[in-house]
Amino acid sequence: MNLQLAMGASHLLGPLPPEKTPSILKAIRHGQDNPMAIIPRAAYRDPVWSSSSFFGNALLVSDPAGVKQVLLDKVANYPKADMEREILSAAFGEGLLSSDGEKWRSHRRIMAPSFDIRSLVSYVPAMAAIAEARANAWHTAGSAEINISDEMTGLTLEVISRTMFSADASDLTAIVGDALKDGQDQFDFSILDMMPVIGRWHIGRMIKRVHETFSVLDDAMYPLIAARAKMAGDAPRDLLDRLIAARDSETGIGMTDREVRDEVVIIFLAGHETTAVAMTFVWYLLSQHPDVEAKLHAELESVLGGRAPAHADLAKLPYARMVIEEAMRLYPPAPGLSARQVAADDEICGRKVKKGRMVLIFPWVLHRHEALWDDPLRFDPERFGPERSAGRPRFAYLPFGGGPRICIGAQLAMMEATIILATLAQKFRLRLVPAQDIELQARITLRPKDGIRMRLEPR
Ligand code: HEM
Repeated sequence: MNLQLAMGASHLLGPLPPEKTPSILKAIRHGQDNPMAIIPRAAYRDPVWSSSSFFGNALLVSDPAGVKQVLLDKVANYPKADMEREILSAAFGEGLLSSDGEKWRSHRRIMAPSFDIRSLVSYVPAMAAIAEARANAWHTAGSAEINISDEMTGLTLEVISRTMFSADASDLTAIVGDALKDGQDQFDFSILDMMPVIGRWHIGRMIKRVHETFSVLDDAMYPLIAARAKMAGDAPRDLLDRLIAARDSETGIGMTDREVRDEVVIIFLAGHETTAVAMTFVWYLLSQHPDVEAKLHAELESVLGGRAPAHADLAKLPYARMVIEEAMRLYPPAPGLSARQVAADDEICGRKVKKGRMVLIFPWVLHRHEALWDDPLRFDPERFGPERSAGRPRFAYLPFGGGPRICIGAQLAMMEATIILATLAQKFRLRLVPAQDIELQARITLRPKDGIRMRLEPR
């Protein structure tokens, strides 16, 4: 049980990290479910932090210039760590999140048009319709109690099925949703992983479990790919068509079914769970901050006046965007970026780093860092307004990572989150069911372990 975070909901903005580095035994006990809970206080004050006792003598970098060096300026010297890629590959094979080098570059190029502005605009009506349908279902439910995490997960999975893979993939939504949920549960990273012998053993078992769980998806994925390949037409309709039609510009060779499967699986997972977690915390935070909620309602009323949002409206909803940004500051859906590994000896923020050393960047720590944010634990969307954002280093805020490996779906996710928020908040308030313990759990995403129970209040 995670003691730091298994606190009443009113304390969810915490935890205040421990003052001292916990002993390794305490760390193992506390960090099983959420390694973020055992990061010592010093890490939230200092530009870099290292400990030989846990995180395997890795260097945690939380200085924006140091982060920029790793993710952008000297990115070739800081590839994703071998161990990290091995673990991710058990689920996603050589999909975009885990691949590297020429394969990564080529696949990213192929997928890019599905995330360009023209494609994004074309997704808006589907996103708004899916959110609207959920509002209608909520109306039927009256003032029922819901688990907002499950609601948001269902909603975002539907959006990704419809926008990336068109309607035929929606039949898969249930199978995919279950397999991805079970699969993510297997990523039980723990402090144990950093220990010399036990660590390798624990990771080996985890890789086997992850691989077995994600294999279930193959029975659904390969028939989907085969059926679509037969229908291949001239202009790609969606991401799946694009993956199937892609040809290497030099060799003319297309992707194998396995390569297409790997990209489809990573888009299904990365494309819905993260946005669902972000939205879950948005609703939680709104329920705790009536002043913010009132301001949001006023903006929605004046811009939309009850109608569904269209693409042109999104730029007129800056406060909605600030609420989402601030929720992701406090609860970054991806609390830690993939570990990077030093390729050749270097120096970060004046610290020598030797070849092979792990370098960690944790948005969770960066976003709560005392040198970067005033009153970091306070929920305060106005800090993302133009005045207070001016001068903030770009690499101080990284919900979507940064540099060439930045999230390919960042704009899609922001757009989707704004549409979901604008549609549902015009019709409902969500009230926290009192006296529940909300425990955070870090898998690939940071999420409330058993979700968050809320009561619908039609407006
Ligand atoms: C709020 C929602 C989202 C958050 C917070 C998020 C966060 C992230 C982060 C932090 C990374 C970088 C990981 C690293 O550098 O180690 C990443 C990468 C990635 N994300 Fe997202 N993501 C979100 C939504 C999406 C969506 C909607 C999609 C696709 C439809 C997506 C697909 C991907 C992929 C494929 C990568 C790997 C990119 C590469 O390495 O080239 N994500 N995401």
